Amino acid sequence: MTTALAILAAATLTAFNDGWEVRREGETGWQRVTLPHDAAFDRGYVRAEDADQGYVSCPVTTYRKTFVRPAGDGRLALRFDGVYMDSMVALNGRCVGGRRNGYLPFEVSLDGMAATNVLEVTCDARTPNARWYQGCGILRDVWLVHRRGWTLEPEAVAVTTELRADGSAVVRVRAEGARVISPVGGEQIVGHPALWSPEVPNLQEIVVTAENPEGERDTLTVRYGIRALTFTLDRGLLLNGKPYRLKGICLHETFGALGAAFCRAATRRELVTLKDLGVNAIRTVHNPFAPAFYDLCDELGFLVMDEAFDEWRIPKTAHGISRFFDACWTNDLRTLVRRDRNHPCVALWSIGNEIPDHRQGVDAGSLVRAMVDVVHALDRTRPVTAALDHPDSAFTNGVMAALDVVGLNYNVGWFARLRGLKPVLGSETAPSLADRDTYLFEERNGRMVPVQSRNHRECAYSPKAFTWADPAEVALRTQVDSPWSAGEFVWCSYDYLGEPNHLGAAPGRRNYWPARSSYWGLCDLAGLPKDRYYLYRSRWNERVPTVHLMPDWTWPGHEGRLFPVWCYTNAEEAELFLNGRSHGVRRPAATKDLHLFWEVPYDPGILEVRARMKDGTVVTDRRVTSGSVAALRVTRLFESDELAFFRCDAVDAAGHRVLACEDRIQALANGGDLLALDNGDPLDHERFRSSTRRLFRGSLVAIVRRRSSDCSLRCDFTAK
Ligand code: GAL
Repeated sequence: MTTALAILAAATLTAFNDGWEVRREGETGWQRVTLPHDAAFDRGYVRAEDADQGYVSCPVTTYRKTFVRPAGDGRLALRFDGVYMDSMVALNGRCVGGRRNGYLPFEVSLDGMAATNVLEVTCDARTPNARWYQGCGILRDVWLVHRRGWTLEPEAVAVTTELRADGSAVVRVRAEGARVISPVGGEQIVGHPALWSPEVPNLQEIVVTAENPEGERDTLTVRYGIRALTFTLDRGLLLNGKPYRLKGICLHETFGALGAAFCRAATRRELVTLKDLGVNAIRTVHNPFAPAFYDLCDELGFLVMDEAFDEWRIPKTAHGISRFFDACWTNDLRTLVRRDRNHPCVALWSIGNEIPDHRQGVDAGSLVRAMVDVVHALDRTRPVTAALDHPDSAFTNGVMAALDVVGLNYNVGWFARLRGLKPVLGSETAPSLADRDTYLFEERNGRMVPVQSRNHRECAYSPKAFTWADPAEVALRTQVDSPWSAGEFVWCSYDYLGEPNHLGAAPGRRNYWPARSSYWGLCDLAGLPKDRYYLYRSRWNERVPTVHLMPDWTWPGHEGRLFPVWCYTNAEEAELFLNGRSHGVRRPAATKDLHLFWEVPYDPGILEVRARMKDGTVVTDRRVTSGSVAALRVTRLFESDELAFFRCDAVDAAGHRVLACEDRIQALANGGDLLALDNGDPLDHERFRSSTRRLFRGSLVAIVRRRSSDCSLRCDFTAK
């Protein structure tokens, strides 16, 4: 069994996820569950609850499991990858451990266990404890750890690499509290290393043998990558010696219709989509993720800004981590760095996001310095950064000075001010508000002008941004104009439950209702791309053609009105045709906008763009006026060993999507169990765990747990 870091030699890990029961405070009965498990998920929305946390309540929750002492000699322990939050573990009624921080692992010893044992895990995630839906419970894997003799722990081993001028690499191995026997002298030279990068994520393994002061030895195999990262003052980031820009996104580790319990298959689906988008870096907002996430980033090729906290001493939420900050921060940071430092994907440590303490006086600077020192004592190879929302105070109170790299949330004006003073990156940029496939217009003198909001819906053209942020176009241009910066992390990749801020509501958090999930993902909650996805794809993914036309082309009653037609593309030029008649050629090079633009009088039929790519090939995209709904079309979006994701679209007799269809459908899985349906609509309050749901803008996504290799999905309209 492998861990995130290594194969344990004198220790074995066995999954301990089966046979648990859960009970929430106020309930009488126990419910059988398999871990990882989210006890707050899909239980309905209550307006009086916190909007940021998606109107759910999280009562104190207890899990229990009865188990028989495993046979064999040696020491046994349980490793929890993360219990959200403030957990306490009891073995046969005696407290054996726990952890306040719900995002970090901990172990409890099973010494003194009986022949038959009852384990109880209690966690207290009463809301509000975060600024987004975080779920509650044993959200990550639990492992039975069996150790025989002295064991070299993966977290105690640090593997670092250095590229030398002659093209070879030195691999250095340290082991805390032990002497490295192999590689000899703790060093190995690799003559012609296959380097790791997001584009070619070459991974290596090194067999490490170490000896403790008592002369006991253990061996383990550590996976690592050889790569060099330097954040410079004037040339941005250098990866393996060459300038490299972070085309990054911010990601929350919650999984939409599956809840917040860690799901490897859903993570893989997200990452594969982000590859298509051209993303090469991910910021783990605003907390450490599950160990398997970093394994996947190593394998698929993403740089990671690994973030520790969203709050320090000054609370952002009434029941958040700030209550324990002083007692826990040192140990929390140490756990994070020791857990993740051998992952080649990890590029930066972030000690916090928009920390209100950063606005305090000089004490803020001293605390940042202390945190940077704790990190550097364990890892000197990566810089420490923080995501700053008030660079003005951080500039004067020592916070910026103490950081290795400055992360700017929004505040694009500061890129130029920091030039030559500090390595800088955009830790958070450009939230665009939009519902998927949603085009809102106001008619003015025969022109259809995009408006941002109507009835809690937000428009795909995203004409307006929030006061604190700049539109994507401004943020992207700042990137081009600031080659001394390392790049950016866009807010954000996927919609998530909670934080339903949108411009269509009257001011005040209470007024977001009935919206219960965010609007600023480039993909919706179901993982389907919104139009803005293609803006970034056209800028970030040079390997594939992007030619994406908007809006939809079914506007009965609007004949003759002038519609703004946009095309996001990385083509050299593109020509637009409506029903075969040209509306002209446009060239990206000739416009400062990051899209091509035509104004076209509406006429039903076929709107088609023909784009000529750099290599001369022609790529088209079209929007076709749809007829009435004739069928449901099911396509397979993604599958792993565990899950399959299907998309269901309402189509007309010719197979064109009918966006106006929001009818209810019934889904039936074959060769698998239907887990959830989601249509990506932030206003939909139905349970995800259901076999029936309304379409939103003509589509939804079904998630199926596979039982056979030919698992499939059938969808039908329900009787009206
Ligand atoms: C930032 C914050 C994020 C999210 C975002 C929305 O200020 O760090 O967590 O709230 O705003 O724009």
